[in-house]
Amino acid sequence: MVCLGNICRSPLAEAALRAEAGRLSVDIAVESAGTGGWHVGHPPDRRAQATARRHGIDISGYRGRQVEAADFRHFTHIFALDADNLSDLRRIAPPDALAEIGLLLDQVEGWQGRSVADPYYGDQSDFETTWTEVDAAARAFVRWWSVDASPN
Ligand code: 4NP
Repeated sequence: MVCLGNICRSPLAEAALRAEAGRLSVDIAVESAGTGGWHVGHPPDRRAQATARRHGIDISGYRGRQVEAADFRHFTHIFALDADNLSDLRRIAPPDALAEIGLLLDQVEGWQGRSVADPYYGDQSDFETTWTEVDAAARAFVRWWSVDASPN
């Protein structure tokens, strides 16, 4: 899960995907990162922590990191939270990238092409909107991964 700072949107997307995979006992390795490096080593924004907590998830131990070339070889999917993150990811992808790169909300029927708005300059309700969007995408992806993409 990749956004700009890795302190607002992508930690919530990571939390939502981890939670849904756990609920359905689907074994998926999930991480998040930022295209920018300003918040490397920082915990998620307090408003993101509060939103996750409201949905029963503790993300206080998450730490920001910047996306790196190895990620493109290690992960099967890299989801951009918005269109800028997507173009940045395509630009920095190494030639031997294996991961499929796409917009996170493309996972949700009817939301194709949509970005998750950056809530950084918003308020707590904007973080709740972020949660609603990333949670819908996480649920759709785990459903697709466990049903349609499974060899069994
Ligand atoms: P995020 O939000 O990309 O959802 O983590 C942001 C957080 C911090 C900054 C930008 C976006 N920043 O410029 O510091």
